[in-house]
Amino acid sequence: MAATPSFASRDPLSPAFWDERFARSFTPWDRGGVPQALRDFVLASPRPLSTLIPGCGSAYEVVYLSDAGWDVTAIDFAPEAVARAKALAGPWAERVVEADFFAWQPPRQLELIYECAFLCALPLAMRPQVAARWAALLPPGARLAGFFYFDQAVKGPPFGIDRAGLEALLAPYFDCIEDAQVSDSIPIFAGKERWMVWRRR
Ligand SMILES: C[S@@+](CC[C@H](N)C(=O)[O-])C[C@H]1O[C@@H](n2cnc3c(N)ncnc32)[C@H](O)[C@@H]1O
Repeated sequence: MAATPSFASRDPLSPAFWDERFARSFTPWDRGGVPQALRDFVLASPRPLSTLIPGCGSAYEVVYLSDAGWDVTAIDFAPEAVARAKALAGPWAERVVEADFFAWQPPRQLELIYECAFLCALPLAMRPQVAARWAALLPPGARLAGFFYFDQAVKGPPFGIDRAGLEALLAPYFDCIEDAQVSDSIPIFAGKERWMVWRRR
């Protein structure tokens, strides 16, 4: 396996950390496309949902969801990520927005937040803030759906969580309504992630 290159920025709370990695094409978290579990979720949904993708990175999902008739906004605070996502989004580029998840205000009511390698990108101390923000952005009945990374390693990103930790984090706001194996994980997440859907209480 190739050695991890050395980077100037070591703080994942800073956009510079992610910018540097996107600029040098060191993006081992990048799935390179739309995961099957999201496709299945979209196909099973009775109607399109107004969706937010926080920390969107390349945001392959924007084209997929938009073409399916879904209203989606993808946000990222790293300019390099936004530039890449906008280029990939083509006609849907305006749906990619440079913004900090903790400050961004939705222009209209959200019905879904799609989680993909955002929670695990942030240091552990941020988790309560992430969960509280998810909860604040979603009305009762709305859903938080995506991939949750389970691991015990102290070093990250990605920073894993354990089941009890995730339950404790989300139980004040959400009920878990789906918890499934993932069939098409990329190596960094293989065997350690679950597709989960949580409903806002
Ligand atoms: C591990 S990457 C995941 C990217 C994408 N979701 C994916 O699965 O390929 C984490 C992303 O979150 C972004 N990010 C981290 N903190 C953020 C914040 N406070 N607001 C918006 N984006 C943030 C980073 O810039 C980075 O693009």
